This record gives sequence, structure tokens and C-alpha cells, in this order.
Amino acid sequence: MDVAGIRMDNPLMVCSGVLGISAGLFSRIEAAHAGAVVTKSISLVPNEGYDNPTVTGVASGVINAMGLPNPGVDAFIEELGRSEVTMPIVVSIYGNDENEFAELAQRLSPHCSALELNLSCPHAGGLLAIGQDPDLVERVVRAAKEASNVPVLAKLTPNVADITKIGLAAQEGGADAVCAINTVKAMAIDIYQEHPILSNIGGGLSGPAIKPIGVRAVWDLAGAVDIPIIGIGGIASWEDVVEYLYSGASAVQMGTALGMYDIDHITRIKDELDLFCSSKELDYEGLCGIVRKRYP
Ligand code: FUM
Repeated sequence: MDVAGIRMDNPLMVCSGVLGISAGLFSRIEAAHAGAVVTKSISLVPNEGYDNPTVTGVASGVINAMGLPNPGVDAFIEELGRSEVTMPIVVSIYGNDENEFAELAQRLSPHCSALELNLSCPHAGGLLAIGQDPDLVERVVRAAKEASNVPVLAKLTPNVADITKIGLAAQEGGADAVCAINTVKAMAIDIYQEHPILSNIGGGLSGPAIKPIGVRAVWDLAGAVDIPIIGIGGIASWEDVVEYLYSGASAVQMGTALGMYDIDHITRIKDELDLFCSSKELDYEGLCGIVRKRYP
């Protein structure tokens, strides 16, 4: 199948920030039959991220604030050179402004199948400010698009009043697809120690708790944009995948569930999705938007 110019065997992608950090892990993700992997977000210079604790479990989900740790673009290009997979690798990038996004796009596009612009980390003040402002989103997407020769995906934040305005801005800037959603602003407090659990205080909620928020975002975007939508948020089963596809997504990304289960969970979901497609006598594309199209 082809989603925004990315050729994938199936619509199951691994989302940014979970496993896509080394050539060895790319091989394991490919062996688990993922359609594509999105890497950890990469910046121009190495970033250590926040002190621990950076992750905590809550009811129906996980809150994380890692602080975008990554080895920087030079080291990551070397890591991409060690990769042996044929599965598409989508490199997630982030910068402080459109010039940094453009430089990253220009340097990384020869080494990947597509770029995903992180316009949505809920606890990196600069990024959230970009991702909540349609004008800035359009400028950043345009700069990255002009600097690269691969598809450019824009990953959107749910932490806005109307995600369709941001999606339309990304489309206007030339995005080949939008990805929705990144995590939802959240925090947790240790009532015995009397302090926030995460070192950064605030973080982003992922996991089953946010699936209905993601499905609604995809539904709303499907009524607004003409480019493909990649659904993200709380996907842990083949039924979750179908719900996102029915809502208007062309593909999905999984993250938290791979931590709750294991990488081979992708294979299980793919096998069950294939059985469902056979029972409906449809291919993956045939599932896209089935319910959404009934509510124009
Ligand atoms: O803290 C982090 O690295 C999270 C990034 C994100 O949500 O985009």
C-alpha cells in the first residue's frame, strides 16, 4: 500500500519515541512485520533529555516526559547507515524554528523514506508553541518540504481548541500527511512524598485512555483535509486499528502498547487484521473511512 508516498506492506507503523532508535531495533521491528517505523525525534545537536523519573504508569495509560533525548543528527545519520531493513524508516525531527527544521530535513532526507515533523511534544515549550499556531505550522512545514525530497508528515498536538485548523495549516504548507495525535498534557502527584512524580512535573498521556481523543481527532481531520491521516493514540488491538481506519485514517502508529506487551504484538495485530480483511473481502485501503464517509 502507498500512504502519502510511503510504500508499506501494511498500515501498522511504530510511532516515534518508543523503539526507533537503533539499527538493531529497526531489524526487530521489521521482523515483527511492521509496515514502517518512525524514529525517536532527532535534533541538530545531541540532547540528554530530562532526569529520571521520566515515565510513570497511571490508570489506562502512561505519562512520559523524556525531554526529547537523542544523539543528534550526525550520530543518527551514522546509525541509519548501519540499518539493514527494507521497511520504510520515517525520521522524526524537531527544531526551534523553521530554519532548524529545514536543515534537519535537508540533512536527513537522503537517509530515510520520509520525515515526520514533531510539532506536538506537550512539554517542550517551543515545540508546543509552534504546533498550536497555524501560521508557524505552515511555515515550518513549508521550510521542511522545500529542503527535502521525501514525503513530509506533520505530527499534530491534541492540545488545541480545534485540531482541524492546524491540520489545514500543515496541508497548506505542503505536508504529504498529518499524524494525529501526540500525547495529551497530563501530570501525576505522589501524595505520600508530596511532589510531582516526573522530574519535569508535566508530561504527556498515552495509552488506552487517549484512544477516543485520537479517534475523534482523526474523524474531525478527515472532514477537513484532503491529505492522508495517520492515526495515533491508544492502539493496542486489531479492533483499535479498525476503529481508526473507519474514522478516516489511512494507517496507524502504535507505541505504548509495545511497551505493555512486546514487539511481537505487531505480528499478532497484523494477523488478526488480515483475518478481518479476509472476512470483509477488503484490502487495507478498503477499510479506510468506511464509517466516516457515511457522515459527510
Ligand atoms: O519527552 C519526549 O521525548 C516526548 C516527546 C514527544 O511527545 O513528542
